[in-house]
Amino acid sequence: MQASLHLEIDSIVGEVDPRLYGSFLEHLGRAVYGGIYEPEHTSADEDGFRGDVLELVKELNVPIVRYPGGNFVSGYNWEDGIGPRESRPRRLDLAWRTLEPNWVGTNEFMMWCQKANTAPMMAVNLGTKGIDEARDILEYCNHPSGTYWSDLRRSHGYEAPHNVKLWCLGNEMDGPWQIGAKTATEYGRLAAETAKVMKWVDPSIELVACGSSGRTMPTFVAWEEEVLTHTYDHVEYVSLHTYYGNSDNNLPLFLAQSTQMDRFIEEVVAICDYVKAKKRGKKDIHLSFDEWNVWFHSSQSDSNLPSWGIGTPFLEDVYTLEDAMVVGCMLISLLKHADRVKIACLAQLVNVIAPIMTQNLGAAWRQTIFWPFLHASQFGRGRVLRAKVESPTYNVGELSDVPYLEAVATLDDAGDNLTLFAVNRHLSENLDLQAQLGGLKGFVLKEHLVLQHSDPKATNTAANPNNVVPRAGGKSQVEDGKLSATLEPLSWNVLRLERQK
Ligand code: AHR
Repeated sequence: MQASLHLEIDSIVGEVDPRLYGSFLEHLGRAVYGGIYEPEHTSADEDGFRGDVLELVKELNVPIVRYPGGNFVSGYNWEDGIGPRESRPRRLDLAWRTLEPNWVGTNEFMMWCQKANTAPMMAVNLGTKGIDEARDILEYCNHPSGTYWSDLRRSHGYEAPHNVKLWCLGNEMDGPWQIGAKTATEYGRLAAETAKVMKWVDPSIELVACGSSGRTMPTFVAWEEEVLTHTYDHVEYVSLHTYYGNSDNNLPLFLAQSTQMDRFIEEVVAICDYVKAKKRGKKDIHLSFDEWNVWFHSSQSDSNLPSWGIGTPFLEDVYTLEDAMVVGCMLISLLKHADRVKIACLAQLVNVIAPIMTQNLGAAWRQTIFWPFLHASQFGRGRVLRAKVESPTYNVGELSDVPYLEAVATLDDAGDNLTLFAVNRHLSENLDLQAQLGGLKGFVLKEHLVLQHSDPKATNTAANPNNVVPRAGGKSQVEDGKLSATLEPLSWNVLRLERQK
């Protein structure tokens, strides 16, 4: 099979906002308790945070982490998680039917963010709460001093404000599973008023309104239109969430799903622009893809887990090479839309549908999906070049013209390093790629990383953590502004080119 690609150095989609490589940590399963926080672990620091997990998070270089949920936030009393630990209440978390001991709360999360070299993206509860709790937590976090909430923070040992710049106005408020779910009118009005008041407390913050919780929701499109009509003047972003699965074991269909992510993004952009025009507005609303991943492995087995535990192992998907390919395609989809997608959060970070897994009191390791995310976060910075891709295609289910080649290229800010990310969706055939690199004469190949395995269902486990790892030495060469590469069946490829000095 053959495919071609054409790039021009000055034809740019957009700048990559570093927040495209964000992640998400919810009070759910073993994400917090047994994930980032386990005081009894041998690697735990003086604050109870696992050092081995911190090292892996730092390796991923995530600029933001969304917290504390997710569905959890819609029933959360943030006041339960501040002040002396011994007087914090235990609560029923109705979103996941677990016990929330409140050992970790807002201040501990801020402390962890500092240690992990990341910044918080906080969500406020617009399920059971509203304007009042949103302005209170913002005052607690961001106001310097001299008020009830800011002085309370100082009395808890945090003299300096946390200065949280990015806030989500609730979570998936259209979903019937959400505590305090709302109609678009109810949510749109509440989100607009909450946003207005939050910006009166701190005008420097940025806000994300909830879009539909998925493209397949019956209210999708009408929800976005109405919510943005209410909130257009007050928010900077609208959220998108998507999870793909392969419960029917139809791999060609599973691999094709990211083409639907492209459509989803383009549809939401169209709605944002429609509302802008309707409002005679000046600003663009950007997209915050603040939950995305593969999620299906654990769905069945989770129903057998007991309710009302602490750190119950919910949503512990063990990822395969196939899943890593889909995650790679989703990353490419996000990059291809870097002009409008400014924020994205891989959901989630540790143990819960996550690139990092841990054993209680034991090891921490990298799942298969860790690798494409790491590569994109490491090398996919700067700007995205517009790529003209010609590839053989296939039809599957209701999807037609799915290209075997999924690819995107980025050029760093200095213009010296070009990275091409490419997935070959074909299950058994090589894809021979010829790429024209317009204006990129003098670039040479630095390395060609490949993530591939003879068994598409291969996983990484505590016993075999390096079963699926990338290797250097993919077959490719660059000559006179032309790149030729062989992309192996079902492989993720990172071709790194640099300008010859
Ligand atoms: O990430 C897991 C859950 O998926 C989140 O809590 C929710 O927002 C979404 O439905």
